[in-house]
Amino acid sequence: MYGVIFTFLKEYVEERHGGNETWRKLLKASTGQAYKLYFPVVDYPDEEIVALAQTAADALSLPLPAVLEDFGSYVGPRLMSFYPMYLKNNIDNTFDMIIHAGANIHDAIHRHNPERKPPQLSAHRESDNILIIHYQSHRRLCHVVRGIVRGLGERFNEEFTIEETQCMYHGAVECIIKVTKK
Ligand code: HEM
Repeated sequence: MYGVIFTFLKEYVEERHGGNETWRKLLKASTGQAYKLYFPVVDYPDEEIVALAQTAADALSLPLPAVLEDFGSYVGPRLMSFYPMYLKNNIDNTFDMIIHAGANIHDAIHRHNPERKPPQLSAHRESDNILIIHYQSHRRLCHVVRGIVRGLGERFNEEFTIEETQCMYHGAVECIIKVTKK
């Protein structure tokens, strides 16, 4: 995964879990180095980000899925502010943002740099207040997807119930996530 996601993880830990000191402790515990820098456009092993998140979960005595979901809620709005060039001007709600990301943004990122491997994501409205998301990735980060949905909801002032109707962790080829607007 590209360094930009590690940069977001660093920001997330610093903002929500105790500043730079916590980040350095996590780095040290997870990679053996307290001062490692992640460059946004360098590709780093996927295992490294999961190891960092696992170390954070252990330090916070929280389950890993909860930490990944909370990280997702931070990352959703952060992706929007970091990549304004990929946004459409008229998007004012979570469902349209996710549909646009699935239909256009990840593909554009991959086209721009074929080395980048964003997830396969698609979404469609089942009704005005129900969105069905299909997510497939060898990284199996469906907890991050759930968090992104929640985080975008906070950004657009919307609340959701999120239910995973099938999941790669239970043997499915892709995760299907049903999002209902309250
Ligand atoms: C706001 C617009 C978005 C932008 C600019 C964006 C961009 C990116 C980028 C640059 C990556 C890293 C790819 C790599 O390192 O090769 C990524 C990964 C990811 N994105 Fe998006 N994304 C957006 C929206 C979304 C949305 C709405 C979701 C889900 C609801 C999502 C789910 C994910 C996940 C789960 C990953 C982790 C990689 C994986 O699962 O394989 N993204 N995205």
